[in-house]
Amino acid sequence: MSVVEKFRSMEYGPAPEDPKESLAWLDSRQRRFGHFIGGEWRAPVEGKYFETADPSTGEKLADMAQGSAADVDAGVKAARAALAGWQKLSCHQRAKFLYALARQVQKHSRRLAVLETLDNGKPIRESRDIDIPLVARHFYHHAGWAQLLDQEFPGYLACGVVGQIIPWNFPLLMLAWKIAPALASGNTVVLKPAEYTPLTALAFAELCNEVGLPAGVVNIVTGDGATGEALVKHADVDKIAFTGSTEVGRAIRRATAQSHKKLSLELGGKSPFIVFEDADLDSAVEGLVDGIWFNQGQVCCAGSRLLVQESVAEKLTKKLQTRMGTLRVGAPLDKAIDIGAIIARVQLERIDGLVKQGIAEGATCWQPEIVLPSRGLFYKPTLLSNVHPTSIVAQQEIFGPVLASMTFRTPREAVELANNTVYGLAASVWSESVNVALQAAAQIKAGVVWVNSTNLFDAACGFGGYRESGFGREGGREGLLEYLEPAWFRNAPVIVAASTTENGAPEVANPSSGIDRTVKLYIGGKQARPDSGYSIPVYGNAGALLGEAPLGNRKDVRNAVEAARKAEGWGKTTAHNRAQVLFYIAENLSQRGEEIRKRLAVAVGERQAADEVRLSIERLFSYAAWADKFDGAVHNPPFRNISIAMNEPIGTVGVICPASTPLLGFFSMVLPLISVGNTVVAIPSERYPLIAGDLYQVFETSDLPGGVVNLVTGRSSELLKVLAEHDDLDALWCYGDDAMCAAAKALSAGNLKQVWTNEGRAIDLFSADQGEGRTYLQHAYQVKNIWVPYGE
Ligand code: NAI
Repeated sequence: MSVVEKFRSMEYGPAPEDPKESLAWLDSRQRRFGHFIGGEWRAPVEGKYFETADPSTGEKLADMAQGSAADVDAGVKAARAALAGWQKLSCHQRAKFLYALARQVQKHSRRLAVLETLDNGKPIRESRDIDIPLVARHFYHHAGWAQLLDQEFPGYLACGVVGQIIPWNFPLLMLAWKIAPALASGNTVVLKPAEYTPLTALAFAELCNEVGLPAGVVNIVTGDGATGEALVKHADVDKIAFTGSTEVGRAIRRATAQSHKKLSLELGGKSPFIVFEDADLDSAVEGLVDGIWFNQGQVCCAGSRLLVQESVAEKLTKKLQTRMGTLRVGAPLDKAIDIGAIIARVQLERIDGLVKQGIAEGATCWQPEIVLPSRGLFYKPTLLSNVHPTSIVAQQEIFGPVLASMTFRTPREAVELANNTVYGLAASVWSESVNVALQAAAQIKAGVVWVNSTNLFDAACGFGGYRESGFGREGGREGLLEYLEPAWFRNAPVIVAASTTENGAPEVANPSSGIDRTVKLYIGGKQARPDSGYSIPVYGNAGALLGEAPLGNRKDVRNAVEAARKAEGWGKTTAHNRAQVLFYIAENLSQRGEEIRKRLAVAVGERQAADEVRLSIERLFSYAAWADKFDGAVHNPPFRNISIAMNEPIGTVGVICPASTPLLGFFSMVLPLISVGNTVVAIPSERYPLIAGDLYQVFETSDLPGGVVNLVTGRSSELLKVLAEHDDLDALWCYGDDAMCAAAKALSAGNLKQVWTNEGRAIDLFSADQGEGRTYLQHAYQVKNIWVPYGE
């Protein structure tokens, strides 16, 4: 064949990377690994091992220790023993260790890349050029955070011993995303790699010893889901960080509900890849190659739903099919391969099953005429078109090289389709018009939006999901905060048993006579009667009947959530506007302050009532101030991009207000939420629900749009259940005793709404340090990173 012919056909021969060094490394360890605990290799207590294999050949690579509860316990004990020593080091000393790890990863980058490809089946081009460099970058970036920790996070404490569970799709990268921020913020770690891909974690363990990391700071316990479960349930773990399937994420939410473990979940996705008619279609096709065929589509943020504007759908499809025909599927160690092997037979069967189901539901399946290797686990790049938005292949994460394509007519329809999912991890938007692209980016509910690009990651830019894609971020300042807690929060005393003034009194039929005051519910800006037709009596400190409050029920909460959802335009008004409304509420509260104070005094005493009114006015001023100052950031990742980190409201949030501070407690919870643009369904103090009447009278005169704050009085524990189980609520804040906080977490697992509680602790809401500020705001918003390219 002449050079010209060769150039035309682009038939290039295999260019395999040599695995010799990595295989020699395996041999030198007799291809048998124990757990890495306390800086040493330990055989599993129960003596059980499992195999890890190369998915592209099926060949066994090594025997791995199957971690039992006893092994997990040993890992946790080692991490606990190492904690004090690790925390005693100066920021600079810890920074030096993280820097050394980054350097060591770089020095061994080729061996790590080959090992990753052998164990996982991903193309060497990806492990060499993407995974491992990003691992090093993550340690460098966090060496910086370790150095700056005391300066940038004064008053914060590390969580302590952290349990981390990672998946198999980016084994070493997910390890870096977990371990680097944990160590930088002064925690020690027990990490469980995925059962399919434990090798690079163990190679990393050796690097820890090579840099002299103190024993027990990093512990690696290998094993399957049962090992992960033992780690999640271990009583001496302070935080769990998990990446994996939404189903397991839900189980972990439930399993940690009774504890005070901090939790971050990075779960599945079904991310839209939106192509507008004015997009550069050739670039969009290359974007799709990266979006869905990168790592065989086994990527949580894969652009697995193609939404293309009808006018260019045919043209794009043709270009895409032509490109798909040139994708090379085969031996992952071949440097010229685009698509490697699928991780495991069960995953391959899952992919195939879902594709067949999609076809049965009406999708048209197209695959290029390429020959797959005769052995190993491979799947052709697949395009499903004419997919109905409700089809299983449009809704469920396939986690394989399968693109589901749909069309839209208008930008509005594109956004609707994009958001028509329970997930919210990422999105990719293609348009040559900056207005169209950014308008879509702002409206899409996802933690990351790439404009004219896809699958870009950087340690400085937080990554994580909205909705059922999980909560918490990895990377950047917000990622670090997942491993820290304010000292005042951690050290707050436990709430003593519910006071006798909680409402345990019998219900009375409505209306009743001889009662001083009867308040109503407040829903959608209107006073409303409760669906139940019942009220509960409210007693004062001295036992006197003060009035009646409506007994709200499930239906009232439903109406309130609906009203709050409708009022979400509040989040799109200007911050200046929100600030003005809050100032105005302060003004009106101040005017009515004396009468409210008098009424409140009967329930909480003269002194507290006066303090609550005064501090509530101050708190209103604080959050009016914050409304237009709690800005996002612009990151400069090492690509020709900027990443705009926007602080977006979470959406509609349920709030169980503190019982013992009816006015100040309400404002302390609700103000941070509404100042950043959320709408709220609040359950006012169960001890003194009559405060609702004072609140809505103030709101009604303060230009607060109807539905932004809704008030449903009643029994907190019953209403908590309704809120927690409500699938259209995005988050829940619960202030109560330990049992209530645990219930809030456990019952919220259904739609994985974000939950923030006081962990059953008595927070001193009368102090500005504990009662207001950044800690509250940080739980009131979520970061969306919008990546915008620049240059030609
Ligand atoms: P998985 O969620 O079961 O596994 C992820 C990790 O969790 C592994 O280390 C596993 O051992 C561990 N694990 C499993 N059960 C656990 C439990 N009860 N408690 C604690 N840890 C537990 O994911 P799997 O089965 O490997 O893949 C199934 C599907 O999950 C995929 O097809 C894909 O849709 C999704 N997935 C999503 C990932 C993401 O990055 N978002 C990563 C991996 C899988």
